[in-house]
Amino acid sequence: MKRVGFLTSGGDCQGLNATMRGVAKALYEHYGEKNVEIIGILNGYKGLIHGDYKKMKPEDFSGILSIGGTILGTSRQPFKLMRVIGEDGIDKVACMKKTYKYLKLDCLVILGGNGSQKTANLLREEGCNIVSLPKTIDNDLWGTDKTFGFQSGINVATYCLDAIHTTATSHSRIFVVEVMGHKVGWLTLYAGVAGGADVILLPEIPYSVDNIVKKIEERERNGKHFTVIAMAEGAVPKEVAELSKKDRKAAVMAQPNGTFTSQLAAQIQEKTGHETRITVPGHMQRGGETCPYDRFLSTSFGAAAAQLIVEEKYGNMVALQGDKIVPVPLEEVAGKLKTVPVDCDEIKCARAVGISFGDK
Ligand code: F6P
Repeated sequence: MKRVGFLTSGGDCQGLNATMRGVAKALYEHYGEKNVEIIGILNGYKGLIHGDYKKMKPEDFSGILSIGGTILGTSRQPFKLMRVIGEDGIDKVACMKKTYKYLKLDCLVILGGNGSQKTANLLREEGCNIVSLPKTIDNDLWGTDKTFGFQSGINVATYCLDAIHTTATSHSRIFVVEVMGHKVGWLTLYAGVAGGADVILLPEIPYSVDNIVKKIEERERNGKHFTVIAMAEGAVPKEVAELSKKDRKAAVMAQPNGTFTSQLAAQIQEKTGHETRITVPGHMQRGGETCPYDRFLSTSFGAAAAQLIVEEKYGNMVALQGDKIVPVPLEEVAGKLKTVPVDCDEIKCARAVGISFGDK
């Protein structure tokens, strides 16, 4: 009997269920339903620490291909605190290993983003057999071209930009649409281009308000009385980007909700005299239906993870590189952030069609 644990960790996103379904179906297919036991660890690493789990049945993985969220629940358990004994006196690493051993797992499949991959690597170092999968709408995981959830997030953010276009045009208004993505700009870049944004602001390219105003005035002269700005939640003005790390953090924390969105909207309204509104699609971007592209990617990732389990190639994250699904050693992935290269083709394409990044 093969015993495999499933765990979803960190912020949820579309494609988690589709990916687990892919792993499960491929395992059942390979071993036969009677020869594999899947154990669902509940609510991420919290469940592994506290021994909360449930035995899964093949039917648990039916009907979930398109459904966002995670049937196992998830939680955020910061990596930096994993080895810290808290006030509750719990040794989290020892508890996780204990649960792993108690459940007699052959392998633990972990679906997670950056922090979760670091903890997955920690468990690998501690002797657990791990296969991980790259989850996040942010697409900021090193080692894979794309993460599952990213395309579904793009779809929601793009829909939001489309909807904002019609109302912005009617009212001749400026709109700043705040897009998720944490410290990187992938989601904003892709949704911005797909949603026809006039200005795209990314954490990787600090902006100046005057350059944005210049773009708005240029559009005004060309008879376009509205402007749609796709702004990453992590975008910062040039003067803030130039601060020391500590001062930058303080400047960000001083902003409402830790973003410069409202400051920028107020500055634009003051400098241009145009009504400027803010729209924040927020967690809608990682909820709802999993889009067909992600369903396909998740299923491919899932089948590849099952194959790694069959071949006992543990200690790897499944990744997409070019058009190939490949294993990447967890020790190479852990702790590395994939930011948007400022000279990448996607940015060149956006600039070529006149999109401003607020830097010129
Ligand atoms: O990592 C996914 C993400 O949605 C980021 O884009 C965003 O910054 C963050 O999670 C929000 O986290 P929370 O759900 O904990 O508010």
